[in-house]
Amino acid sequence: MVFVGLLFAFAAAEEEAPVCQILGSPEIPLLSKGGDVTIGGAFSIHSKIAQPPLSFTVKPTRLTCSSVNLREFRFAQIMIFAIEEINKSDVLLPNVSIGYRIYDNCGSTLSSMRAVMALMNGDELTTGKSCSGQSAVHAIIGESESSSTIVLSRTTGPFKIPVISHSATCECLSNRKEYPSFFRTIASDLYQSRALTQLVKHFGWTWVGAVNSDSDYGNNGMAIFLAAAQEEGVCFEYTEKFHREEPEKLMKVVEVIRKSTARVIVAFLAHVEMNNLLEQLSLHNITGRQFIGVEAWITADSLVTPTSFTVLGGSLGFAVQKANISGLDEFLTKDFWQGEFKCKEGHNNSITGAAPCKENHNLTELKYYNDDVTELRYSGNIYKAIYAVAYSLHSMLKCSQSQGCDRTVKVTPWQAVESLKQVNFTTKNGEQVWFDSTGAAVALYEVVNWQRGSDGSVHFKPVGYYDASLPPGKKFFLKNDAIMWPGGNTEANMLTKSHT
Ligand SMILES: *[C@@H]1O[C@H](CO)[C@@H](O)[C@H](O)[C@H]1NC(C)=O
Ligand SMILES: *[C@@H]1O[C@H](CO)[C@@H](O)[C@H](O)[C@H]1NC(C)=O
Ligand SMILES: *[C@@H]1O[C@H](CO)[C@@H](O)[C@H](O)[C@H]1NC(C)=O
Repeated sequence: MVFVGLLFAFAAAEEEAPVCQILGSPEIPLLSKGGDVTIGGAFSIHSKIAQPPLSFTVKPTRLTCSSVNLREFRFAQIMIFAIEEINKSDVLLPNVSIGYRIYDNCGSTLSSMRAVMALMNGDELTTGKSCSGQSAVHAIIGESESSSTIVLSRTTGPFKIPVISHSATCECLSNRKEYPSFFRTIASDLYQSRALTQLVKHFGWTWVGAVNSDSDYGNNGMAIFLAAAQEEGVCFEYTEKFHREEPEKLMKVVEVIRKSTARVIVAFLAHVEMNNLLEQLSLHNITGRQFIGVEAWITADSLVTPTSFTVLGGSLGFAVQKANISGLDEFLTKDFWQGEFKCKEGHNNSITGAAPCKENHNLTELKYYNDDVTELRYSGNIYKAIYAVAYSLHSMLKCSQSQGCDRTVKVTPWQAVESLKQVNFTTKNGEQVWFDSTGAAVALYEVVNWQRGSDGSVHFKPVGYYDASLPPGKKFFLKNDAIMWPGGNTEANMLTKSHT
């Protein structure tokens, strides 16, 4: 709706500049701060949404979201952390302040669409002047899942507004014709699928089962893996898929696994589906399988429960490298709550820069939650994405440490896209960041293994790596004797014996 309003105003602007007005109610960001330049964010901070009844006789009420997702909330916090760090620095973007506008899409594409519109159009009911046609943000960070990132990039693509995802890995997003302004600080699954093939081949497993999420992520990733693995002579006893909203299909998959003879299962699942599968396997006491996992779930803390180790112990899979960002702990547990998280009592649709308190009450409870700070992986990708935007703006605004930046330069979104293609910088912990011709980062994964520590806690032990930048034959490395197999075995024998 907002969209139509914007297009109409473009057409009319040449004649007599009408007042620019948003149709419907403005969407207020969950977290925001003004600045000379603004970076947008879209995350699933809540994971459930309640649709108000649509009787079409009264104006629908606001969508209400519930069930906070800590991992996604951390993404928003890290985005703010990086922005503040750059804002304070006088090397990068001196004399330019950076603002942000972060929306919660509550895990729904409908809500996602509203967030994208708001990011592009701003949330002022009326600007009091003609529409400038200028996006309210210079770049958008998000989203986490491939399917929602596709919605986001398809919508912003025609306006050439850069989108940088920290975790959407679908190979489908590498298509430059369809997604001309998409970037990611993570590699395409083209590499992960190849790496999975190397892993399966390494142990000589030729009789395996495969399960994937029925989504862009799972279907594309599995297709590439199947093709590569079959070329290497791997046979598949079954290839099954299900979606989080298909409980009957999930039960069918569980039945297939229960009856199967293949001991090795390659699970190309998003963490929501992995969680659903895990619940059922635990419930039916189906254990003794060797799971091979992907970055989406292999290091997901939410899967570690008192009973999950009997199913997933010994799992092997590829993980995004751990982030080591100094000063972050302090920010997450203290500064953020003192400085950034402000909400406003009562509903008010005018621009306030603060989300209503009542609806976001559950977020304040996260204040005391800091156990997961050591397992931050995608967070490093958010950090790199923000810096990439900052470096691109730094060059567009012709900044120098002595002269400052030229704040009169008007930055258009397509210039930002071109500038992002050129960035090449080193983060403060020594990582080189640049985008390849598809807009993605170079593939570098850690191989991790689900092990139990002496204190009984589950940890994701690094046992190797896959580095696509190294020459053939050197890309994949595995430390065999560091691996703990399902059931606590120190040898893989019981798995290879099941070849038929
Ligand atoms: C950036 O710095 C300016 C000036 O010091 C300050 O007013 C603003 O609040 C800062 N913004 C953020 C996001 O830290
Ligand atoms: C909303 O905020 C505006 C500006 O702060 C104020 O004038 C208005 O009375 C508020 N409306 C409600 C319903 O609180
Ligand atoms: C990025 O910079 C590094 C160090 O200056 C250089 O080695 C590398 O080749 C550059 N990469 C690209 C793609 O330009």
